[in-house]
Amino acid sequence: MSDGSLNAFGRGALPLGPRSPRVAAGNRWLMHRAAKPLLFVAALLPLAWLVWGAYADALGANPAETLIRSTGDWTLRFLCLTLVVTPLRQWSGWQALARLRRLLGLFTFFYGVLHFLCFAWLDMGLNLQAIVRDITKRPFILVGSAALLLMLPLAATSFNAAIRWLGAKRWQALHRAVYATALLAILHFFWMRAGKNDFAEVAVYAAVLALLLGWRLWRRFAKPAQRMNPGSHSASG
Ligand code: HEM
Repeated sequence: MSDGSLNAFGRGALPLGPRSPRVAAGNRWLMHRAAKPLLFVAALLPLAWLVWGAYADALGANPAETLIRSTGDWTLRFLCLTLVVTPLRQWSGWQALARLRRLLGLFTFFYGVLHFLCFAWLDMGLNLQAIVRDITKRPFILVGSAALLLMLPLAATSFNAAIRWLGAKRWQALHRAVYATALLAILHFFWMRAGKNDFAEVAVYAAVLALLLGWRLWRRFAKPAQRMNPGSHSASG
């Protein structure tokens, strides 16, 4: 996993040279100065949709539940998107994808905080005692809180100055916490849906995360073995 591009919330490896016209075109597009602002605006669309829904009274019979659940869903989706960057980059040759990862990671944290705030405000009426009681009483909320807390140091150290201050190795080690976040997030979702005996969506996210984390394990453990055995065939991108 030391491919120099593990970081979910920060800078990744710089773009490599183009290998084909398709790869070069993709990299050129991703390096365009409009790419980040476009992603930024796109990432705000779910929030805009929820704000509009709340304003227009279009969030269904239970708007508080819709807000809490939708922000939870978007936290998980952004987590998956953040984790897909490195495998997609390796597979496609679009090295410039790395420059979008920090933004995706920060949006994961952003939606996670919104999700927590919706819960704290709409479910708990911003009553600190009630929030603490609920976190300690309901295991799935405790697990969700642990996932969010784990993201805090990642978001706080996602800037270039923090990378310089920590040094690349320590910074990368710290940012591996994103894998624990992913496991806790899926456990949180599973536990919440277990009460309703409804696992269909959980299974989809669990499969996606298993693929994304499994790919990293494969790279860490299978790839070095292949390097030691040059006769073997590498299937990696
Ligand atoms: C990385 C952090 C987190 C992620 C990825 C996450 C994700 C999710 C997801 C996917 C759902 C289910 C949405 C659905 O049913 O469609 C959910 C529900 C929920 N989460 Fe989180 N969550 C996180 C952190 C938290 C935290 C910190 C709290 C509160 C302290 C929390 C409280 C809740 C509550 C109350 C529900 C709704 C339960 C219900 O409606 O029955 N979550 N979360």
